[in-house]
Amino acid sequence: MEKLVITGGTPLKGEVTISGAKNAAVAILPATLLVDGICKINNLPNISDVKIYCEILEALGAKITWNGKNEITIDTRNITTTEAPLDLTSKFRASYYIIGALLGRKGSVAVGMPGGCKLGARPIDQHIKGFEALGAEVETTQGKIVAKANKLVGNSIYMDITSVGATINIMLAAVLAKGTTIIDNAAKEPHIVDVANFLNTMGADIRGAGTDTIKIIGKKKLKGNANYSVVPDQIEAGTFMVAAVASKGDIILKNCITKHLECITAKILEVGGQIEDYGDSIRVFCTKRPTKANIKTLPYPGFPTDMQSQMGVLLSIADGTSVISESIWESRFQYTDELKKMGANIIANGKTAIFEGVKELIGSPVYAPDLRAAAALVVAGIIAKGKTEIYNLEYLDRGYENLEEKFRNLGAKIERVTE
Ligand code: EPU
Repeated sequence: MEKLVITGGTPLKGEVTISGAKNAAVAILPATLLVDGICKINNLPNISDVKIYCEILEALGAKITWNGKNEITIDTRNITTTEAPLDLTSKFRASYYIIGALLGRKGSVAVGMPGGCKLGARPIDQHIKGFEALGAEVETTQGKIVAKANKLVGNSIYMDITSVGATINIMLAAVLAKGTTIIDNAAKEPHIVDVANFLNTMGADIRGAGTDTIKIIGKKKLKGNANYSVVPDQIEAGTFMVAAVASKGDIILKNCITKHLECITAKILEVGGQIEDYGDSIRVFCTKRPTKANIKTLPYPGFPTDMQSQMGVLLSIADGTSVISESIWESRFQYTDELKKMGANIIANGKTAIFEGVKELIGSPVYAPDLRAAAALVVAGIIAKGKTEIYNLEYLDRGYENLEEKFRNLGAKIERVTE
C-alpha cells in the first residue's frame, strides 16, 4: 500500500505549471468517437482517469498512440463495437459520456453504470431525458445502461437541474443529430466550453457554450486531422492557490486562465491572500494568518464544489468562525472527520459545516474519502506541525498529475512511500 508522508510547516515558494483539466479531458476523449478520422490531443493530464478512458476507447476499436506523456493521437475511423467494457466504465463517473458519443456516431451503446467518488446520490435522469428528447430509447438494467436510436433528431431540451455531465452528454449526442438542438438552463463550466471548442474544431456547429443556452446545429459528419490542446485545470490551479495562502507562501502558477479562477480569487482576497494577475499566470502570496470567510458552492461562475474541501482546510486555520454551505453534493464533508484528527474544530451537519479556526493543525495519519478531499489533506499536511501520513492515494492519482512532485518543487517535504 502507498502513502504520502509529509513533514509540514514550510511556506511554499516558487513556480508551478498547471496541467490540462481532468474534467475537460474525460469529456474530450469520448468526444473523439464522433470523429471519423484522426485527432491529436495535447496538454492531456497524465492521470489514471485518462489512462482508463484510453483503455475504454481502445476496447471500442480506437487506435491510440502516446506521443509523449501529455499528448496522444487517436484514430477513431474503425469503431468495432458499441458495447463498452463494463468493468472499466463502472470505475468512474465520466464513462457516461460514451453514451452520448456512441449514440451520435453509431445509434447504439451499452455501458456499465458509472461509478466515481461517493458524494451522495448521483442520478443521471437529466442525461436520459435529453437522449429521449432526441429520439433514443434508454434502458437501465442489470448494472448497465443500454441506449438505441434509429435516428437522432434535434429538439429543445430544458434541463431541470444545471448539470455539467448532462449538458456535455446531450451536446455530444446532438452534434450528428438531424436538425437543431437547443439546451436551456445549460451548465457553463470552462470544460463545457472546451468540449464545444474541440467539437467545433472537428467541424461541429455548437453556439453559446458558456451561456445558459446552447444551440447545436447537427452535421452529417465530423472530420479529423486537427490538433487540440486541453484547457488548463481550474481546480488544480485553485488547489495550489489555497496551499500558497494557507502555508503563508508565495508562488506563481503558470499555464492557467485567470478568468476561470475569479470565483476562487475572490475568496483568496477575502481571507487576506494577495494576487497579481497576469492573464495566463498568477502570483498568489500571503504574509499573515488568513481570516474567516463564508462560502456557498454553486455551479460556475459560483464557487466550485470541487474546491470546497481545499478551502475548508484553509478556513480550519483561519482567524474566526467560517461557514461553508455545500449546495451541489449531499455528502462532501467527509474530509472534516480526517481534519478533526489533525486538531481542526469543525461541526459538519448535512450540507453545512462550521469551521472554528484553530491556530495550527497537527500531523496525523489520515484517509482520503474522495478525490478533492485527498488534495485537501495534502494541503493540510503541508501546513500542519509534524508528520502527516495520507492513505487512499488512488483517489489523488485519478485527478492530479504528479501532485507531490509539484509540491516538492515548491519546497514541501513530501514523499510517496510503499508500506
Ligand atoms: N443531477 C441530477 N440529475 C442528473 C445529473 C445531475 O439530479 O441527471 C444533480 C447531481 O446529483 C448534483 C447536481 O445535479 O446534485 C450537479 O451534478 P452534475 O451533473 O453537474 O455533476 P457531474 O457532471 O456528475 C461534474 C464533475 C464533478 C463536479 C460536478 C459539479 C466530471 C467528470 N465531474 O460531475 O467533479 O463536482 O460536475 O461541478 O466532470 C471531481 O472532479 O472531483 C468531481 C466530482
